[in-house]
Amino acid sequence: MTKILPVASGKGGVGKSIFVANLGVALAARGKTVILIDLDLGGSNLHTCLGIKNRYSGLGSFIYKKEESLEALLVETEIERLYFIHGDSLLPGTANLPFFMKQKIIRGIGRLMADYIILDLSAGSTYNIIDFFLLSFSGILITIPETTAILNLYSFLKTTLYRLLHRSFPARSEERRIIHNFIGNRIENSDLSFANLITNISSFNQESGALAKKQISAFFPGVVINMAQSDQDLAIGRDLRNISRKNMGCELEYIGFIPREEGIYRSIIERLPFFILEPDSRFSQSIDLIARKLISTLQISTPRLPIDNDDLAELSNTIF
Ligand SMILES: Nc1ncnc2c1ncn2[C@@H]1O[C@H](COP(=O)(O)OP(=O)(O)OP(=O)(O)O)[C@@H](O)[C@H]1O
Ligand SMILES: [Mg+2]
Repeated sequence: MTKILPVASGKGGVGKSIFVANLGVALAARGKTVILIDLDLGGSNLHTCLGIKNRYSGLGSFIYKKEESLEALLVETEIERLYFIHGDSLLPGTANLPFFMKQKIIRGIGRLMADYIILDLSAGSTYNIIDFFLLSFSGILITIPETTAILNLYSFLKTTLYRLLHRSFPARSEERRIIHNFIGNRIENSDLSFANLITNISSFNQESGALAKKQISAFFPGVVINMAQSDQDLAIGRDLRNISRKNMGCELEYIGFIPREEGIYRSIIERLPFFILEPDSRFSQSIDLIARKLISTLQISTPRLPIDNDDLAELSNTIF
């Protein structure tokens, strides 16, 4: 079964594209067929991280019907089993993508066959980005260990959960109205948590409350801390997890710490992902660890198990 892995971040420039390119290489090296899609429309640069020239048709050709399927846009990379689909600088940025274009891309992605389809998304919390992120309940959120990036990640999560609940109920339903009122009130009363929202929905209809709860517990994103420099970065991860659990009832799984690697720029100059350039570096090892973790644990149907901070500690032991 194809696993879709959207990669998002609240803040820009935290390393999504570098991560997507190198994770793709690592998964392909472990025998998986991988398609990387540059969905950072308007800001597409994933090809640079892979060392591919920008001379192939991108998503625009599919949207504007020059190509019938996304499959026709697949570019073979120099790495066996790794394929790539270009974004498009002619398309409006992701934030302004009209609804029909978004739906067309989503349907196109659903028809692709591979072990993994990894989506490099734009930074930010607009609904289009969030809808791409919600193509999976186990997308990957990437951040750097800096307060602003963590706060943006937190906002991204919050907006994603609201969007998830909103989309779980029909248009013009009372449940949607309750959710919208709640968002409005939250601004004035920041202590309200998602538990209160679920209580509000349950008081209207118990089954709907149960559905809202189920959706939030099924949502289980993985978090990657990039450019980590020390063990202290663990504390940041721990705080984010605690606050997300407390305020939103949402569990996060830490799937990786990637150290800051000063040599990354060389991979752009030499047009080769760093994973290939320096396979024994700590950077490449941490990417490989994530690939192995994804292969062994990411089962879309796996029930969510309660976890503590064991995953954080384990990663730190491996990397530092
Ligand atoms: N682990 C790392 N160590 C050192 N530098 C890194 C690391 N990861 C990424 N970088 C550098 O950070 C910069 C931003 O990386 P990248 O373009 O992948 O971010 P992004 O999140 O995709 O940005 P955008 O939001 O603009 O799409 C690049 O210069 C890249 O080389
Ligand atoms: Mg990028």
